[in-house]
Amino acid sequence: MKSFRGEPEIYRQRDQGRTEAELEVKSLSLSFGGIQALSDIDMEVHTGELVAVIGPNGAGKTSLLNCMTGYYRPQKGRIIFNGKDVTRHSTHSLTRVGIGRTFQNIELFPGMTVLSNMMLGRHIHCRYGLIPGCFFSPSVRKEEIRHRRILEEIIDFLEMQAIRNKPVGSLPYGMRKRVELGRALALDPRLLVLDEPFAGMTLEEKEDMVRFLLELNAGWGQTMILVEHDMSIVMSISTRVTVLNFGEKLAEGTPEAVQSDPKVIAAYLGGGQENGNGLSRDNGLQADIG
Ligand SMILES: Nc1ncnc2c1ncn2[C@@H]1O[C@H](COP(=O)(O)OP(=O)(O)OP(=O)(O)O)[C@@H](O)[C@H]1O
Ligand SMILES: [Mg+2]
Repeated sequence: MKSFRGEPEIYRQRDQGRTEAELEVKSLSLSFGGIQALSDIDMEVHTGELVAVIGPNGAGKTSLLNCMTGYYRPQKGRIIFNGKDVTRHSTHSLTRVGIGRTFQNIELFPGMTVLSNMMLGRHIHCRYGLIPGCFFSPSVRKEEIRHRRILEEIIDFLEMQAIRNKPVGSLPYGMRKRVELGRALALDPRLLVLDEPFAGMTLEEKEDMVRFLLELNAGWGQTMILVEHDMSIVMSISTRVTVLNFGEKLAEGTPEAVQSDPKVIAAYLGGGQENGNGLSRDNGLQADIG
């Protein structure tokens, strides 16, 4: 398949200030009634890193991402992004400061085309008002052309030319995951937050996704947080790994350090049972990507 070798405009135009993505999570706690989803979580992400958040089912990974992206309001703790306290900001405002995400359960409009779904991600950058937009003035047209060009570059990069005009609902699950990544990239995020982007993918789709994430992070410096159950992928592409278990931070460090941490091994292998998401003795922490 054709591989996009050029650097999309959203990355070409980034200067030092535009790339900065320093995230600090301090003593974050979140509960739902009697369920303690997160207890006193501290975590940092620095510009250019690809930090993975791992942990067994129900460990609190999605809850942590939901706090970072404004979907959940933590009862305690703070989230600082590039020096600004964003703890209780709305999802919209967090998107504006540069935090873009994908969802564990795909959140796209199935009746709309790939391009239209991605266009929705781009709207945050539209500068024209309602009236000029209605009359499609020359300045609006110029801006729309620029947005289209940006989207076409992302479509090229993600090798989605063949599906660009197809309704999302008609696509295989793995392809929809790719469209979600495309929509998140259309936001031009400083920090890209991915909740299980490989779930439900075939081996070939996973290989493509690994290639895209490596190009984004190692090639173009995109800062990322990745929640993923496939340990072989996590351990091969992350710069650092944070491990959650029952809402608490169990460990953090380099992939090598985390893989050999006895607490982490015990958390994953303690039950010794396949947990439905690929974490088992056979394909767990010691696995290497082929
Ligand atoms: N909206 C909610 N209402 C009530 N409980 C919730 C809600 N969201 C999460 N929880 C609970 O918080 C805990 C952590 O859930 P979370 O979805 O964050 O786990 P996870 O690590 O993402 O798990 P998985 O790997 O299965 O996706 C679980 O006990 C879950 O049932
Ligand atoms: Mg989850």
